[in-house]
Amino acid sequence: MLVSATKMLNDAVKGKYAVGQFNINNLEWTKSILQTAQENNSPVILGVSEGAGKYMTGFKTVSAMVSAMIDELGITVPVALHLDHGTYDGCYKCIKAGFSSIMFDGSHFPIEENVAKTKELVTVSHAMGMSIEAEVGSIGGEEDGVVGAGEIADPLECKKIADLGVDFLAAGIGNIHGKYPENWKGLDFGALAKIKELVGDLPLVLHGGTGIPADMIQTAISLGVAKINVNTECQLYFQEATRKYIEEGKDLEGKGFDPRKLLAPGAEAIKTIVKEKMELFGSIGKA
Ligand code: 13P
Repeated sequence: MLVSATKMLNDAVKGKYAVGQFNINNLEWTKSILQTAQENNSPVILGVSEGAGKYMTGFKTVSAMVSAMIDELGITVPVALHLDHGTYDGCYKCIKAGFSSIMFDGSHFPIEENVAKTKELVTVSHAMGMSIEAEVGSIGGEEDGVVGAGEIADPLECKKIADLGVDFLAAGIGNIHGKYPENWKGLDFGALAKIKELVGDLPLVLHGGTGIPADMIQTAISLGVAKINVNTECQLYFQEATRKYIEEGKDLEGKGFDPRKLLAPGAEAIKTIVKEKMELFGSIGKA
């Protein structure tokens, strides 16, 4: 069932668990994530970056594929189709294309411009029954061309954006897209606690979910994180399984070259990591 992410994340705050956002890149990715959510009775958020949207030929294609897949696979758990790190124009494209949720990433704008654009998009998305995520304090690292310096969000700026009526908020607390470097200092729970104090029960979003140790995930959830984004880890699982298949020469045996066979180990590997994350985040059985 395609829904906005508002109710599933408010429920997660109350229940002290988090819902995973898993980024999609193609049909195999989407199918694996939807099936895993259904098998585990978990709500799920499908994240689409602007780069991945372009790769899949545009947001209209993505939206049509996801709606049709939900129908054809008989997916009854709540599924949100969410734009990840959207630009202002990208948000409008996804609103038109039938997404159920958007993220407007105005973190690189001066705060007043972030406020003005977020405010406008809150009005428009809510009129369409969609949920909206905003960002304060950039997430470090690089994802699909979106580069962030990795600043810690200012709690007062978080409060300013929260008061605009966004449904959930991404606040930079030392998290980074991609693999964490050896010398990573960890998440700044002091900053997270201050933000939580000011924004109350507004669901908070933790980007850069790849490679964050389990104990930090638990602490983050206890401090109001209700949505955790994972992208790189699915890519690494897919790559490793595909490499193994080819290195074992399976593509050379019989009809092992058939793309449905070639991509099958990677698709299965995605199911494994998505289930692991759902267990860690506590969303299993919460649909
Ligand atoms: P990772 O690629 O580090 O898992 O981050 C995903 C993310 O935050 C998507 O916005």
